[in-house]
Amino acid sequence: MKFFLDTANLDELKKGAAWGIVDGVTTNPSLIAKEGKPIEEQVRRICDIVDGPISAEVVATEFDGMVKQAHELSAIHPNIIVKVPLTRDGIRTCATLCKQGIRFNLTLCFSAAQALLAAKAGATFVSPFVGRFDDIAEEGMALVDTICGIYSNYGFKTEVLAASLRSPLHVVQAAQAGAHIATMPFKVLDQLFNHPLTDRGLEQFLKDYKKAFPDTGTPR
Ligand code: E4P
Repeated sequence: MKFFLDTANLDELKKGAAWGIVDGVTTNPSLIAKEGKPIEEQVRRICDIVDGPISAEVVATEFDGMVKQAHELSAIHPNIIVKVPLTRDGIRTCATLCKQGIRFNLTLCFSAAQALLAAKAGATFVSPFVGRFDDIAEEGMALVDTICGIYSNYGFKTEVLAASLRSPLHVVQAAQAGAHIATMPFKVLDQLFNHPLTDRGLEQFLKDYKKAFPDTGTPR
């Protein structure tokens, strides 16, 4: 399973990348807006930090505008994945431009039917939004599971990118469902490390060692 960071914040990306377990990045217009820099500039900086697929989303909503923006965004760096919403124009843009080698992430996916469209259009990734589905009392993870099953029935190459993940449990459940990728906020990636027994065990190991060899300095 690949881990993507769901943020446009450079400090978070640097911290995550330093751990050596971040395979890519997803952004969206809201995340870019939070950083206060135009998308081209912010995404270029992100590409300098993480060497992997970096999703950059169009804000155009009609085919011609999406095509123009898709060309502009994909020209920024070879790692750019153009993110388009799962609308008629988004699907058409993906189906048209993926033949020219531009890679797409079909976002705002809330049904298996939409995920089928993404695969048919040749998307590199489809992003079912787990947390936002949970928010309306639907089973977000069941959607990921269903899409993984359907894709495997037909050997579709589109990868399932579980998005809108809000907790470590979401990440584990996405892995159980067979999602190829989990994209998560930095906070969730950080939370994956936590276990009280790890902390307690480490404390005891160090205490025992220090007791046996009191004169040995403790390296940090
Ligand atoms: C990433 O591709 C999505 O835009 C993101 O996961 C949405 O997350 P949210 O529902 O927490 O805003």
